Parts: sequence; C-alpha cells; structure tokens
Amino acid sequence: MKTGKRPPARSGRFKSGPAQIVTEFTQSVSFDRRLWVQDIVGSLAHAYMLCSIGVLTGQELVEIQDGLFKIAEEIGAGKFKWRPEMEDVHMCIEAELTRRVPAGAKLHTARSRNDQVALDMRLWVRAEIEQLRGEIRELQRALVGFAERHLDVIIPGYTHLQRAQPVPIAHHMLAYVEMLERDHGRFGDALKRVNVCPLGSGALAGTTLPINRELVARLLKFVDDRDRPRLTMNSMDAVSDRDFVVEFAAASALLGVHLSRLAEDLVLWSSSEFNFVRLPEEYTTGSSLMPQKRNPDVAELVRGKSGRLVGNLMALLTILKGLPMSYNRDLQEDKQRLFDTADTVRACVRIMAPMIEKTTVNEEACAMAAGDPQLLATDLADYLVRKGVPFREAHHVVGAAVALAEKEGKPLNALTDSEWQRLSPKFGSDVKEVFDLHQAMHRRQTPGGPGIREVRRQLKRWQTVLGAK
Ligand code: ARG
Repeated sequence: MKTGKRPPARSGRFKSGPAQIVTEFTQSVSFDRRLWVQDIVGSLAHAYMLCSIGVLTGQELVEIQDGLFKIAEEIGAGKFKWRPEMEDVHMCIEAELTRRVPAGAKLHTARSRNDQVALDMRLWVRAEIEQLRGEIRELQRALVGFAERHLDVIIPGYTHLQRAQPVPIAHHMLAYVEMLERDHGRFGDALKRVNVCPLGSGALAGTTLPINRELVARLLKFVDDRDRPRLTMNSMDAVSDRDFVVEFAAASALLGVHLSRLAEDLVLWSSSEFNFVRLPEEYTTGSSLMPQKRNPDVAELVRGKSGRLVGNLMALLTILKGLPMSYNRDLQEDKQRLFDTADTVRACVRIMAPMIEKTTVNEEACAMAAGDPQLLATDLADYLVRKGVPFREAHHVVGAAVALAEKEGKPLNALTDSEWQRLSPKFGSDVKEVFDLHQAMHRRQTPGGPGIREVRRQLKRWQTVLGAK
C-alpha cells in the first residue's frame, strides 16, 4: 500500500516520523482492517470499564461511544479513510476518534496495542469458528443425504486402490461424515482456548491502574458455561500467545486434508475408468482445446487449496518459533495466514455441499464393479472358517481357488463342484450362496461395518445428530 502523507511524529520520543519506506514496510492496515468490527467492539467494552472505574466521565463515555459508532458506520459504508501512515487498524480508528472527540485520547488508558490485537484476534477467530462449524454441519448433511439416496448402491471398497471388498456407497460417504465430525469437535475444543480474554495484560506487564478485567470479559462474552468470566492468567503469555491461531490453522489444515480426500474420490469416481458418479454440470468446466472434456475442476481446486492450508499452518509455526518473550512485531505476520486459512477452508467446505447434493450415481457401473466375485474372496474364507477350517488355511485354499479361476479364465463363482471339492472337501454345494451380493451385505452385522442394517443404523444416528432435512 502506498502511503500518501508523511507519517506523523509518533510520540514525544521521536523528532520525526519513520522513513516512507519504513512506513510502507511496517504497515498492516492494508490487511488488518478486517479486524475493524472486533477492534471497535473491544474499544466499546474497554471504554465502558474505564468509565466504571472513574477514568472516563459518563459524558466522555457517551462521546466515545457515539464517535465509535459513527466510525463503524463509515467503515461499513466504505467511506472511512484508512491511513497507512497510522500503521494498523487500531491506530487508524483511535486516531480518527481522537481527532473527532477529545476524550478519545483517554481510550488507550491501561491498554496497549499488544493486548488489543490479541483481543481482536481472539474475537475474530471465535466468530469464524462458530460460522465454520455451521458450514461443516451443512456438508455433513449433504453427505448423509447422498448416502440416503443411494442406500442400495454397492461399490467395491478399495485398499491400495485395488478392489478389496464390497461396501455400500453410503458407507463410503459416511466415512467422511465421521471425519467431519472430528473436525467439528476439534474446532469446538479450540474454541474453548480461544474464548479467554487477554485485555488488561497491557504491553506485557499489566497496568498500575485499578481496571476491572472481569467486567470487560463479561461484556465481550468471554465466559465459561457457568457464566464465569475467563481471563488469561499471565500477561506476558497473553500478549505473545498465538496458540489459538495455530490451533485454528491446524484444525483447518486437517479439515482441508479430509476435503481433499473426498475431492480425490470424486475425481476418480467421475473418470471414465470408474464412472461411478456424474458431477453436476455446473460444477465442472470444459477444456479450451478438447471439446469433449468435462473436468472436475472444483474438486481439483479443493484438493489443491488444502496445500495452502497446510502451508499457512507451517508459516504460522515458523513465525512463532524462537520468538523471545513477549510481544514481537513478527506476530503481525500471523494475520494474512489466518485470514487466508479462514477464507480458503470456508470456501472449500461451502462448495462441496451443493456439489455433492447434485452429484448423481451411475448405478449400472457401480453394480458391474461390485459384481466382481473376487470381492467376496474373504467371505469365501469365512465360509470355510464356519466349517471349522483355521483361517490361515482357509486363506490359502481361497487363494488357490482364485488362482485356479484365473488360470481357467473364468470368474471365481463359476468353478465347478468338482473343482471346489478338489480345492477342499469342506466346500459344499452351498458355496454358491457366498457369491450372492445381497446376502453378503446382510451377513455383515458388526457395529461400524458396511452391513446394510448397520449402515441404516448409522444413518439414523446421523439424522439425530444433524437434524437432517
Ligand atoms: N499491528 C500490530 C500487530 O498486528 C499490533 C501490535 C503492535 N504493537 C507494537 N508494539 N508495535 O501485531
């Protein structure tokens, strides 16, 4: 951001303002102005407290409140003049207030930008987490809806990207609902540590004035579930702590990784090779060269953007590493990483929900893939186990059966009675039933498994948790 004016002399300590190039280098208002709501709300609470302890008169408080409201209105309407020579959002607002209202000069009593910025950041992250948790819920609902609509569709489940065992596509999607539930919980846990009030820590060593921290904490809703104010308990920690930003970035990075995996499944499934799903046209793009293409760019970008989230987390950790106590200007570098993480993760969660809602399933292709009898090789081993064969031996026998079928160039379920008998005398004529996919899906009864009944039970659980539409 170019600064128009020569910066003002900062205080009695300085004869001149900083060099122009320094102002440009150190300013943060070009990006931290995003904290303006939190900054004003924080100042309103602080001013109220200052009045309650007699630092401000009632009249001065009203003037400050009016002044801050007017500034808020102007910022909201895009009419406020941000001045980079004032460095940051905090100074811009305070300087403008003081220019209009002389009592503004008292607002910074017992406060430093160090505890002020810590407060603003906590307020900002708190609001962001609350919104994001709602968006995660929306995506979970979309996934549960998808699972419900396709309850009868069975696909191969994969390990090593090789066909492994059959699973309902619903079970596959509910796996992501579980991941998102943990993400939701992680943000909830982080919120508990975000929601602590640092104001009153001053620059690093509190204040000699008789402030009322509890009152400020209450006004700003930094309270526990029993309505008791929650205050940071070490002023040096409070002004230098950005753990809460790291936690937010870490939870976001992990959420991003989960979304990236989901996106990757959609990319694979929508390829001609899999052809399990068709992504909604409006969530795909064409190629500038190849007229036939319909590319899953949205899913790819979600996958790609998760890299930014991981990068932001690494950047934040690196900024903090090795900082001596307590506040250091390095901390100003936390903001762009935080804002980028918040914007990126929110956009990704937000776009996945409608895309999944409108994705259709190619039931024929799924049935064809899930009809591969080799997917039931493990069921075949279990069949022998039920007839008293030790599992290791059963595993070996079924392996031989698969090899035989491959050698004969026929599907596993097309071996003849005598071929089964030669493999093991334990194979009876009922062995054919093992290959009935419908029955196979009903045989799976374990909790957390892909059996149809269990998947239905899980869907019910999610409907209760999510209050699904
Ligand atoms: N813009 C600063 C930041 O984001 C605010 C705190 C500045 N404090 C200071 N002592 N220079 O960290």
